[in-house]
Amino acid sequence: MSEVFVIKGGKALKGKVRISGSKNATVALIPAAVLANEPVHITGIPKISDVAALSKLLGELNCEVQAINGNELIINPAKMINISLEDDSVTKLRASYYFMGALLGKYKEVSIRMSGGCDLGPRPIDLHLKGFEALGAQIDYSRGIYHLKAEKLCGNKIFLDIASVGATINIMMAAVYAEGRTTIENAAREPEIIDVANLLNKMGARIRGAGTTVLTIDGVKYLGGCFHEIIPDRIEAGTYVIMAATAAEDMIIENVIPLHIESLIAKLREMKADVEVGIDYIHIKRVAELVATDIKTRPYPGLATDLQQPFSVLMTQATGISQIVETIYQDRFKQCKDLNKMGAKIEVKQGFCLIEGPTKLYGCDVEATDLRGGAAMVIAALIAEGETTINEVFHIDRGYEGIDDKLRELGADIVRIEK
Ligand code: EPU
Repeated sequence: MSEVFVIKGGKALKGKVRISGSKNATVALIPAAVLANEPVHITGIPKISDVAALSKLLGELNCEVQAINGNELIINPAKMINISLEDDSVTKLRASYYFMGALLGKYKEVSIRMSGGCDLGPRPIDLHLKGFEALGAQIDYSRGIYHLKAEKLCGNKIFLDIASVGATINIMMAAVYAEGRTTIENAAREPEIIDVANLLNKMGARIRGAGTTVLTIDGVKYLGGCFHEIIPDRIEAGTYVIMAATAAEDMIIENVIPLHIESLIAKLREMKADVEVGIDYIHIKRVAELVATDIKTRPYPGLATDLQQPFSVLMTQATGISQIVETIYQDRFKQCKDLNKMGAKIEVKQGFCLIEGPTKLYGCDVEATDLRGGAAMVIAALIAEGETTINEVFHIDRGYEGIDDKLRELGADIVRIEK
Protein backbone atom coordinates (compact mmCIF):
# COMPACT_ATOMS: atom_id res chain seq x y z
CA MET A 1 0.00 0.00 0.00
CA SER A 2 1.22 3.48 -0.81
CA GLU A 3 -0.39 6.88 -0.97
CA VAL A 4 -1.43 8.56 -4.21
CA PHE A 5 -2.94 11.92 -5.09
CA VAL A 6 -6.08 11.98 -7.20
CA ILE A 7 -6.56 15.39 -8.78
CA LYS A 8 -9.52 16.49 -10.89
CA GLY A 9 -8.10 19.19 -13.13
CA GLY A 10 -9.54 22.39 -14.47
CA LYS A 11 -10.35 24.26 -11.25
CA ALA A 12 -8.53 27.60 -11.38
CA LEU A 13 -6.68 28.29 -8.11
CA LYS A 14 -7.69 31.33 -6.12
CA GLY A 15 -6.60 32.76 -2.77
CA LYS A 16 -3.53 32.80 -0.55
CA VAL A 17 -0.91 30.21 0.30
CA ARG A 18 1.73 30.49 3.02
CA ILE A 19 5.23 29.23 2.40
CA SER A 20 6.87 27.05 5.07
CA GLY A 21 10.43 27.09 6.39
CA SER A 22 13.17 26.08 3.96
CA LYS A 23 13.64 22.34 3.54
CA ASN A 24 17.22 22.60 2.34
CA ALA A 25 18.13 24.90 5.25
CA THR A 26 16.33 22.69 7.79
CA VAL A 27 18.06 19.50 6.70
CA ALA A 28 21.43 21.20 7.33
CA LEU A 29 20.41 23.09 10.49
CA ILE A 30 19.34 19.91 12.28
CA PRO A 31 22.74 18.19 11.89
CA ALA A 32 24.47 21.53 12.62
CA ALA A 33 22.69 21.66 15.99
CA VAL A 34 24.63 18.61 17.22
CA LEU A 35 27.80 20.71 17.17
CA ALA A 36 26.43 22.56 20.21
CA ASN A 37 26.78 21.38 23.78
CA GLU A 38 23.54 22.98 24.98
CA PRO A 39 19.93 23.05 23.68
CA VAL A 40 19.36 24.59 20.25
CA HIS A 41 15.84 25.88 19.66
CA ILE A 42 14.84 26.08 15.98
CA THR A 43 11.53 27.48 14.79
CA GLY A 44 9.96 27.41 11.33
CA ILE A 45 10.59 23.68 10.85
CA PRO A 46 8.50 22.42 7.91
CA LYS A 47 6.33 19.32 8.42
CA ILE A 48 8.05 17.13 5.87
CA SER A 49 9.26 13.55 6.02
CA ASP A 50 12.95 14.51 5.69
CA VAL A 51 12.68 16.12 9.15
CA ALA A 52 11.25 12.90 10.58
CA ALA A 53 14.18 10.93 9.13
CA LEU A 54 16.75 13.35 10.58
CA SER A 55 15.00 13.37 13.97
CA LYS A 56 15.30 9.60 14.00
CA LEU A 57 19.05 9.95 13.47
CA LEU A 58 19.25 12.48 16.31
CA GLY A 59 17.61 9.83 18.49
CA GLU A 60 20.26 7.30 17.44
CA LEU A 61 22.89 9.80 18.60
CA ASN A 62 21.10 10.11 21.94
CA CYS A 63 20.21 13.76 21.35
CA GLU A 64 17.02 14.78 23.12
CA VAL A 65 14.52 16.13 20.61
CA GLN A 66 11.45 18.00 21.75
CA ALA A 67 8.86 18.99 19.15
CA ILE A 68 6.65 21.92 20.15
CA ASN A 69 3.92 24.04 18.55
CA GLY A 70 3.95 21.94 15.38
CA ASN A 71 6.92 23.70 13.82
CA GLU A 72 9.62 23.98 16.45
CA LEU A 73 12.33 21.62 17.61
CA ILE A 74 14.50 21.90 20.68
CA ILE A 75 17.55 19.73 20.11
CA ASN A 76 19.60 19.01 23.20
CA PRO A 77 22.95 17.37 22.38
CA ALA A 78 24.21 17.52 26.00
CA LYS A 79 24.17 13.74 26.44
CA MET A 80 24.85 12.68 22.87
CA ILE A 81 27.06 9.78 21.88
CA ASN A 82 28.97 9.32 18.65
CA ILE A 83 27.75 6.02 17.24
CA SER A 84 27.97 4.71 13.68
CA LEU A 85 24.94 5.96 11.73
CA GLU A 86 23.70 2.97 9.80
CA ASP A 87 19.93 3.26 10.27
CA ASP A 88 17.77 3.11 7.12
CA SER A 89 16.90 6.78 7.69
CA VAL A 90 20.37 7.69 6.41
CA THR A 91 19.45 6.44 2.96
CA LYS A 92 16.08 8.20 2.85
CA LEU A 93 17.57 11.58 2.09
CA ARG A 94 20.68 13.19 0.73
CA ALA A 95 21.22 15.56 3.61
CA SER A 96 22.02 12.89 6.18
CA TYR A 97 25.59 13.38 4.91
CA TYR A 98 25.68 16.62 6.91
CA PHE A 99 26.21 14.43 9.98
CA MET A 100 29.58 13.61 8.42
CA GLY A 101 30.84 17.16 8.76
CA ALA A 102 29.08 17.78 12.07
CA LEU A 103 30.27 14.62 13.85
CA LEU A 104 33.76 14.83 12.38
CA GLY A 105 33.91 18.44 13.58
CA LYS A 106 32.74 17.59 17.07
CA TYR A 107 34.39 14.20 17.73
CA LYS A 108 37.16 14.05 15.06
CA GLU A 109 35.62 10.73 14.05
CA VAL A 110 32.47 9.60 12.26
CA SER A 111 31.04 6.43 10.74
CA ILE A 112 28.04 6.78 8.45
CA ARG A 113 26.32 4.94 5.62
CA MET A 114 26.24 6.46 2.15
CA SER A 115 23.27 8.84 2.01
CA GLY A 116 20.31 8.63 -0.40
CA GLY A 117 18.10 11.34 -1.93
CA CYS A 118 16.44 11.97 -5.29
CA ASP A 119 17.81 10.11 -8.29
CA LEU A 120 18.99 13.00 -10.47
CA GLY A 121 21.90 11.17 -12.10
CA PRO A 122 25.39 11.00 -10.52
CA ARG A 123 25.71 12.92 -7.23
CA PRO A 124 29.31 12.41 -6.07
CA ILE A 125 30.62 13.69 -2.71
CA ASP A 126 34.29 13.89 -3.68
CA LEU A 127 34.48 17.61 -2.86
CA HIS A 128 33.15 17.04 0.67
CA LEU A 129 35.76 14.33 1.21
CA LYS A 130 38.63 16.40 -0.22
CA GLY A 131 37.65 19.19 2.16
CA PHE A 132 37.64 16.85 5.18
CA GLU A 133 41.03 15.48 4.11
CA ALA A 134 42.42 18.98 3.85
CA LEU A 135 41.38 19.54 7.46
CA GLY A 136 43.29 16.42 8.52
CA ALA A 137 40.80 13.54 8.26
CA GLN A 138 41.66 10.09 6.96
CA ILE A 139 38.92 8.46 4.96
CA ASP A 140 38.05 4.82 4.68
CA TYR A 141 35.08 3.47 2.71
CA SER A 142 34.04 -0.14 2.91
CA ARG A 143 30.76 -2.01 2.52
CA GLY A 144 28.74 1.17 2.09
CA ILE A 145 30.07 2.83 5.26
CA TYR A 146 32.34 5.87 5.38
CA HIS A 147 34.71 6.05 8.31
CA LEU A 148 36.48 9.35 8.84
CA LYS A 149 39.02 9.95 11.59
CA ALA A 150 41.47 12.72 12.44
CA GLU A 151 44.13 13.01 15.13
CA LYS A 152 43.27 16.67 15.11
CA LEU A 153 41.55 19.00 12.67
CA CYS A 154 43.53 22.00 11.49
CA GLY A 155 42.28 24.92 9.44
CA ASN A 156 43.37 24.97 5.81
CA LYS A 157 42.74 26.71 2.50
CA ILE A 158 40.21 24.76 0.43
CA PHE A 159 39.26 25.52 -3.15
CA LEU A 160 36.08 23.84 -4.39
CA ASP A 161 36.24 22.79 -8.06
CA ILE A 162 32.45 23.26 -8.21
CA ALA A 163 30.50 25.65 -5.99
CA SER A 164 28.69 22.80 -4.24
CA VAL A 165 26.03 23.61 -1.65
CA GLY A 166 26.54 20.35 0.22
CA ALA A 167 30.34 20.54 0.25
CA THR A 168 30.34 24.18 1.39
CA ILE A 169 28.02 23.43 4.34
CA ASN A 170 29.67 20.14 5.27
CA ILE A 171 33.22 21.56 5.28
CA MET A 172 32.01 24.62 7.21
CA MET A 173 30.60 22.32 9.91
CA ALA A 174 33.76 20.21 10.08
CA ALA A 175 35.86 23.38 10.44
CA VAL A 176 34.09 25.18 13.29
CA TYR A 177 36.15 23.44 15.98
CA ALA A 178 39.33 23.05 13.88
CA GLU A 179 42.50 24.76 15.07
CA GLY A 180 43.16 28.00 13.21
CA ARG A 181 41.56 29.40 10.09
CA THR A 182 39.81 27.56 7.28
CA THR A 183 39.09 29.34 4.02
CA ILE A 184 36.66 27.89 1.50
CA GLU A 185 37.11 29.44 -1.91
CA ASN A 186 34.59 29.14 -4.73
CA ALA A 187 32.03 28.48 -2.00
CA ALA A 188 28.37 28.16 -2.97
CA ARG A 189 26.28 31.26 -2.24
CA GLU A 190 22.80 29.79 -1.70
CA PRO A 191 20.68 31.48 1.02
CA GLU A 192 20.57 28.18 2.93
CA ILE A 193 24.33 28.48 3.48
CA ILE A 194 23.85 31.89 5.08
CA ASP A 195 21.14 30.41 7.31
CA VAL A 196 23.41 27.61 8.52
CA ALA A 197 26.31 30.05 9.10
CA ASN A 198 23.94 32.29 11.07
CA LEU A 199 22.90 29.40 13.31
CA LEU A 200 26.50 28.34 13.90
CA ASN A 201 27.56 31.92 14.64
CA LYS A 202 24.73 32.27 17.17
CA MET A 203 26.08 29.10 18.78
CA GLY A 204 29.47 30.82 19.05
CA ALA A 205 31.23 29.94 15.78
CA ARG A 206 33.27 32.52 13.88
CA ILE A 207 32.21 32.28 10.25
CA ARG A 208 32.46 35.18 7.86
CA GLY A 209 31.59 35.61 4.21
CA ALA A 210 28.51 33.35 3.99
CA GLY A 211 26.63 34.34 0.85
CA THR A 212 29.87 35.25 -0.94
CA THR A 213 32.33 32.99 -2.75
CA VAL A 214 34.90 33.07 0.07
CA LEU A 215 34.06 31.72 3.50
CA THR A 216 36.39 32.13 6.46
CA ILE A 217 36.00 29.97 9.53
CA ASP A 218 38.10 30.63 12.62
CA GLY A 219 38.00 27.62 14.90
CA VAL A 220 36.52 27.96 18.40
CA LYS A 221 36.66 25.70 21.46
CA TYR A 222 33.04 25.69 22.59
CA LEU A 223 29.59 26.08 21.00
CA GLY A 224 26.53 26.78 23.14
CA GLY A 225 22.78 26.84 22.63
CA CYS A 226 20.72 29.44 20.77
CA PHE A 227 17.35 30.27 19.22
CA HIS A 228 16.98 30.38 15.46
CA GLU A 229 14.21 30.98 12.94
CA ILE A 230 14.56 29.26 9.55
CA ILE A 231 14.27 31.29 6.35
CA PRO A 232 11.22 30.68 4.10
CA ASP A 233 11.64 27.98 1.47
CA ARG A 234 12.59 29.65 -1.81
CA ILE A 235 12.00 26.45 -3.78
CA GLU A 236 8.54 25.89 -2.31
CA ALA A 237 7.82 29.58 -2.97
CA GLY A 238 9.06 29.26 -6.53
CA THR A 239 6.99 26.13 -7.06
CA TYR A 240 3.78 27.90 -5.94
CA VAL A 241 4.66 30.96 -8.03
CA ILE A 242 5.04 28.74 -11.10
CA MET A 243 1.86 26.90 -10.15
CA ALA A 244 0.03 30.23 -9.90
CA ALA A 245 1.25 31.34 -13.32
CA THR A 246 0.13 28.00 -14.76
CA ALA A 247 -3.12 27.25 -12.95
CA ALA A 248 -4.44 30.23 -11.00
CA GLU A 249 -6.94 32.96 -11.66
CA ASP A 250 -5.62 35.12 -8.84
CA MET A 251 -3.19 33.89 -6.18
CA ILE A 252 -0.99 35.39 -3.49
CA ILE A 253 2.06 33.53 -2.23
CA GLU A 254 2.94 34.74 1.27
CA ASN A 255 6.05 34.49 3.47
CA VAL A 256 8.47 34.82 0.59
CA ILE A 257 11.83 36.59 0.39
CA PRO A 258 11.44 37.89 -3.19
CA LEU A 259 15.20 38.46 -3.56
CA HIS A 260 15.67 34.67 -3.31
CA ILE A 261 13.60 34.03 -6.44
CA GLU A 262 14.54 37.07 -8.52
CA SER A 263 15.79 35.01 -11.45
CA LEU A 264 12.45 33.18 -11.58
CA ILE A 265 10.43 36.39 -11.43
CA ALA A 266 12.50 37.87 -14.27
CA LYS A 267 11.73 34.81 -16.42
CA LEU A 268 8.01 34.95 -15.66
CA ARG A 269 7.93 38.60 -16.67
CA GLU A 270 9.73 37.70 -19.88
CA MET A 271 6.87 35.25 -20.53
CA LYS A 272 4.42 38.15 -20.00
CA ALA A 273 2.99 36.76 -16.77
CA ASP A 274 1.26 39.25 -14.46
CA VAL A 275 3.53 39.28 -11.40
CA GLU A 276 3.39 41.79 -8.56
CA VAL A 277 6.23 41.60 -6.08
CA GLY A 278 5.49 42.78 -2.53
CA ILE A 279 7.78 43.02 0.49
CA ASP A 280 7.15 39.43 1.52
CA TYR A 281 4.62 38.17 -1.00
CA ILE A 282 4.12 37.55 -4.72
CA HIS A 283 0.77 38.19 -6.39
CA ILE A 284 0.01 36.48 -9.68
CA LYS A 285 -3.00 37.01 -11.92
CA ARG A 286 -4.00 35.01 -14.97
CA VAL A 287 -3.12 36.40 -18.40
CA ALA A 288 -4.65 35.52 -21.78
CA GLU A 289 -1.38 34.29 -23.26
CA LEU A 290 2.10 33.37 -22.07
CA VAL A 291 5.04 33.44 -24.47
CA ALA A 292 7.78 30.84 -24.72
CA THR A 293 11.18 31.46 -23.13
CA ASP A 294 14.52 29.75 -22.53
CA ILE A 295 16.02 28.94 -19.15
CA LYS A 296 19.41 27.70 -18.03
CA THR A 297 19.81 26.34 -14.51
CA ARG A 298 22.63 27.91 -12.52
CA PRO A 299 23.93 28.00 -8.95
CA TYR A 300 22.37 30.81 -6.89
CA PRO A 301 21.57 33.59 -7.76
CA GLY A 302 20.85 31.94 -11.11
CA LEU A 303 17.69 29.98 -11.79
CA ALA A 304 17.55 27.00 -9.41
CA THR A 305 17.71 23.52 -10.89
CA ASP A 306 15.02 22.54 -8.37
CA LEU A 307 12.56 24.90 -10.12
CA GLN A 308 13.31 23.66 -13.61
CA GLN A 309 10.97 20.67 -13.32
CA PRO A 310 7.88 22.65 -12.23
CA PHE A 311 8.84 25.30 -14.81
CA SER A 312 8.66 22.74 -17.61
CA VAL A 313 4.91 22.43 -17.02
CA LEU A 314 4.40 26.18 -17.35
CA MET A 315 6.31 26.04 -20.61
CA THR A 316 3.82 23.53 -22.04
CA GLN A 317 1.24 26.34 -21.77
CA ALA A 318 3.32 29.09 -23.40
CA THR A 319 3.09 29.93 -27.09
CA GLY A 320 6.18 28.90 -29.04
CA ILE A 321 9.19 26.71 -28.38
CA SER A 322 10.83 26.95 -24.96
CA GLN A 323 14.19 25.47 -24.05
CA ILE A 324 15.53 24.27 -20.72
CA VAL A 325 19.29 23.78 -20.40
CA GLU A 326 20.13 21.85 -17.22
CA THR A 327 23.70 22.57 -16.14
CA ILE A 328 23.64 21.08 -12.61
CA TYR A 329 22.01 17.63 -13.05
CA GLN A 330 22.01 16.61 -16.71
CA ASP A 331 19.45 13.82 -16.19
CA ARG A 332 16.90 15.88 -14.27
CA PHE A 333 14.17 15.49 -16.88
CA LYS A 334 12.29 12.49 -15.53
CA GLN A 335 9.03 14.47 -15.37
CA CYS A 336 8.98 14.83 -19.16
CA LYS A 337 7.96 11.26 -19.94
CA ASP A 338 4.70 11.52 -18.01
CA LEU A 339 4.10 15.09 -19.17
CA ASN A 340 4.23 13.78 -22.74
CA LYS A 341 1.85 10.99 -21.71
CA MET A 342 -0.54 13.76 -20.60
CA GLY A 343 -0.31 15.49 -23.98
CA ALA A 344 2.78 17.72 -23.77
CA LYS A 345 5.23 17.99 -26.65
CA ILE A 346 8.64 17.75 -25.02
CA GLU A 347 11.78 16.49 -26.68
CA VAL A 348 14.50 15.54 -24.22
CA LYS A 349 18.10 15.69 -25.45
CA GLN A 350 21.42 15.35 -23.63
CA GLY A 351 21.32 18.01 -20.91
CA PHE A 352 18.51 20.05 -22.44
CA CYS A 353 14.93 19.79 -23.60
CA LEU A 354 12.65 21.59 -26.03
CA ILE A 355 9.02 22.22 -25.18
CA GLU A 356 6.44 23.18 -27.77
CA GLY A 357 3.34 24.96 -26.54
CA PRO A 358 0.63 25.53 -25.86
CA THR A 359 -0.68 21.99 -25.54
CA LYS A 360 -3.78 20.72 -23.82
CA LEU A 361 -3.05 18.20 -21.05
CA TYR A 362 -5.21 15.20 -20.20
CA GLY A 363 -5.44 13.40 -16.86
CA CYS A 364 -3.99 9.89 -16.57
CA ASP A 365 -1.90 7.68 -14.26
CA VAL A 366 1.51 9.27 -13.63
CA GLU A 367 4.40 9.00 -11.22
CA ALA A 368 6.22 11.39 -8.91
CA THR A 369 9.67 10.21 -9.98
CA ASP A 370 11.42 12.51 -7.50
CA LEU A 371 10.60 15.46 -5.26
CA ARG A 372 10.49 18.31 -7.78
CA GLY A 373 9.34 16.04 -10.59
CA GLY A 374 6.42 15.18 -8.31
CA ALA A 375 5.61 18.87 -7.87
CA ALA A 376 5.64 19.20 -11.66
CA MET A 377 3.08 16.39 -11.90
CA VAL A 378 0.83 18.16 -9.40
CA ILE A 379 0.90 21.37 -11.45
CA ALA A 380 0.18 19.46 -14.66
CA ALA A 381 -2.73 17.61 -13.03
CA LEU A 382 -4.27 20.90 -11.88
CA ILE A 383 -4.68 22.10 -15.47
CA ALA A 384 -5.35 18.74 -17.11
CA GLU A 385 -8.74 17.76 -18.41
CA GLY A 386 -10.14 14.90 -16.33
CA GLU A 387 -8.60 12.98 -13.47
CA THR A 388 -4.90 12.38 -12.77
CA THR A 389 -3.56 9.85 -10.31
CA ILE A 390 -0.05 10.66 -9.05
CA ASN A 391 1.76 7.63 -7.68
CA GLU A 392 4.76 7.58 -5.30
CA VAL A 393 3.74 10.80 -3.52
CA PHE A 394 6.15 10.02 -0.69
CA HIS A 395 8.72 11.81 -2.86
CA ILE A 396 6.60 14.98 -2.70
CA ASP A 397 6.06 14.64 1.06
CA ARG A 398 9.83 14.72 1.53
CA GLY A 399 9.90 18.41 0.75
CA TYR A 400 6.48 20.06 0.45
CA GLU A 401 4.60 20.59 3.71
CA GLY A 402 0.94 19.57 3.34
CA ILE A 403 0.79 20.27 -0.38
CA ASP A 404 -2.66 18.67 -0.66
CA ASP A 405 -4.04 20.76 2.24
CA LYS A 406 -2.55 23.95 0.83
CA LEU A 407 -4.03 23.19 -2.59
CA ARG A 408 -7.49 22.44 -1.23
CA GLU A 409 -7.42 25.85 0.47
CA LEU A 410 -6.76 27.32 -2.96
CA GLY A 411 -9.79 25.53 -4.41
CA ALA A 412 -8.14 22.51 -6.03
CA ASP A 413 -9.92 19.16 -6.17
CA ILE A 414 -7.23 16.91 -4.68
CA VAL A 415 -7.49 13.88 -2.43
CA ARG A 416 -4.84 11.65 -0.89
CA ILE A 417 -5.78 7.99 -0.87
CA GLU A 418 -4.16 4.63 -0.14
CA LYS A 419 -3.71 2.45 -3.16
N1 EPU B 1 29.14 17.80 -7.08
C1 EPU B 1 30.29 17.10 -7.31
N2 EPU B 1 31.02 16.67 -6.23
C2 EPU B 1 30.63 16.91 -4.96
C3 EPU B 1 29.46 17.64 -4.73
C4 EPU B 1 28.72 18.08 -5.82
O1 EPU B 1 30.66 16.84 -8.45
O2 EPU B 1 31.34 16.50 -4.04
C5 EPU B 1 28.34 18.29 -8.22
C6 EPU B 1 26.96 17.68 -8.25
O3 EPU B 1 26.95 16.41 -8.89
C7 EPU B 1 26.18 18.73 -9.01
C8 EPU B 1 26.83 20.03 -8.56
O4 EPU B 1 28.11 19.67 -8.04
O5 EPU B 1 26.35 18.57 -10.37
C9 EPU B 1 26.08 20.81 -7.51
O6 EPU B 1 25.73 19.94 -6.44
P1 EPU B 1 25.54 20.45 -4.94
O7 EPU B 1 26.55 19.79 -4.09
O8 EPU B 1 25.46 21.93 -4.93
O9 EPU B 1 24.11 19.82 -4.59
P2 EPU B 1 23.66 19.19 -3.24
O10 EPU B 1 24.25 19.96 -2.11
O11 EPU B 1 23.82 17.72 -3.27
C10 EPU B 1 21.64 20.79 -2.98
C11 EPU B 1 20.17 20.63 -2.75
C12 EPU B 1 19.51 20.12 -4.02
C13 EPU B 1 19.80 21.11 -5.14
C14 EPU B 1 21.31 21.30 -5.30
C15 EPU B 1 21.68 22.33 -6.34
C16 EPU B 1 20.04 20.01 -0.42
C17 EPU B 1 19.75 18.97 0.58
N3 EPU B 1 19.96 19.66 -1.68
O12 EPU B 1 22.13 19.49 -3.30
O13 EPU B 1 18.13 20.11 -3.76
O14 EPU B 1 19.26 20.62 -6.34
O15 EPU B 1 21.86 21.71 -4.03
O16 EPU B 1 21.19 23.57 -5.99
O17 EPU B 1 20.30 21.16 -0.08
C18 EPU B 1 15.93 19.38 -3.95
O18 EPU B 1 15.66 20.16 -3.02
O19 EPU B 1 15.05 18.80 -4.65
C19 EPU B 1 17.33 19.13 -4.25
C20 EPU B 1 17.73 18.10 -4.97
